[in-house]
Amino acid sequence: MENVNLSVVVLNRTFPNPVIPAAGPNVGSGKMVQRAAQGGAGGLLTKTISSVAAQVPHPNMARFGKDNLLNSELWSELSPETWFDQEYDISLNAAHEYQLPIIASVGYTTHDLATLGPRLEQKGINIIEFSIHYLDEKRIVETAQALRNAVSIPIVAKLSMHSGDLGEIAKLLDPYVDGFTCINSFGPTLMIDIERGTSPLGSQYGYGWLSGPSIKPLAIRSVFEVARVTDKPVIGVGGITCGEDVIEFFMAGASLVEVCTAAILKGPEVYGKIAVETAQWLDAHGYHDIEEIKGLYLNKYRHGQTVVTSINQTAWVDELKCKACSQCAKVCQFDALQAPLKQIASVNTESCAACGLCVSVCPFDALELRPLLHED
Ligand SMILES: Cc1cc2nc3c(=O)[nH]c(=O)nc-3n(C[C@H](O)[C@H](O)[C@H](O)COP(=O)(O)O)c2cc1C
Repeated sequence: MENVNLSVVVLNRTFPNPVIPAAGPNVGSGKMVQRAAQGGAGGLLTKTISSVAAQVPHPNMARFGKDNLLNSELWSELSPETWFDQEYDISLNAAHEYQLPIIASVGYTTHDLATLGPRLEQKGINIIEFSIHYLDEKRIVETAQALRNAVSIPIVAKLSMHSGDLGEIAKLLDPYVDGFTCINSFGPTLMIDIERGTSPLGSQYGYGWLSGPSIKPLAIRSVFEVARVTDKPVIGVGGITCGEDVIEFFMAGASLVEVCTAAILKGPEVYGKIAVETAQWLDAHGYHDIEEIKGLYLNKYRHGQTVVTSINQTAWVDELKCKACSQCAKVCQFDALQAPLKQIASVNTESCAACGLCVSVCPFDALELRPLLHED
């Protein structure tokens, strides 16, 4: 895809493509970071470390549906000494060999960040991402300040949905950080194996954090919410499995994206595959540079849109596109769509409530809402 430029400059670093790993077991060691580089990632990121190795419950990962995960992994089970003695060297070598920027993830207290931050900077890490996953609101700001005072390389705050209103948190953190990452896994959540009456996870109540496509709308909303209140770069993460997802995050205001669950379930080649699909989508839609679609939604809707509360629209069927599959009629809760077997769908405009559901379920893009007075 030579005619499409996927490279992005974020925090003064050039990423050859915008798809990089998110913190997780997919980058849980130097070897895994190396695999991410081989798999076509546009930048590297290393698993969250803290002052001590995490005591992780076992088991700690379970699949939910086809493409999601619940996990109770905490942070790295490897000690910071192991990372500084060997894993970062392997990771930095990969970054050097593949000419990729490298981000290190770290958590959680002011003490952790003030002591680990300078060591990461000294080691040659380009950017630090710090996680607020286990902190209350007051401590979030304190940790950001502590890291800001400790290092001169760019620092990025990784936000979690359960911390509160992410727009407000971003405003509080903005004076201290150079960017944001949205979002960490969502929860806690619970899944019960009904044959055994147990959770697949070994954590205290069997709780785990949800990731994968099921959290994508939360992540998109969060990127939008944060990008509305800051001009600093926002890194999008949550449920990315394909190029179209990258486009969606960029339209919401993301400058770069991270992938974790898809890399765990499908392997490290997924970074490169998603990047290629992103270029293909851009090419097919007449774009030459990923920057052209950045903030497309954000800039249109950052101040909201007019909310229509009266029914002044109706579903309309494009008969050339309708394939008579009858899915629209099945989901219509107002009896407004008729689609007897093998017949093109038709709309009863009297009963159509303009809810929009049929438009979103039609596999053939044959339905849209049109103003009621101008239906044909
Ligand atoms: C098994 C697992 C371990 C994770 N460990 C970390 C971690 O150590 N630090 C962190 O900030 N996020 C961690 N995450 C969250 C991911 O980095 C990411 O924010 C989240 O999973 C959403 O992206 P995804 O849907 O692409 O997985 C972990 C996620 C999973 C699935």
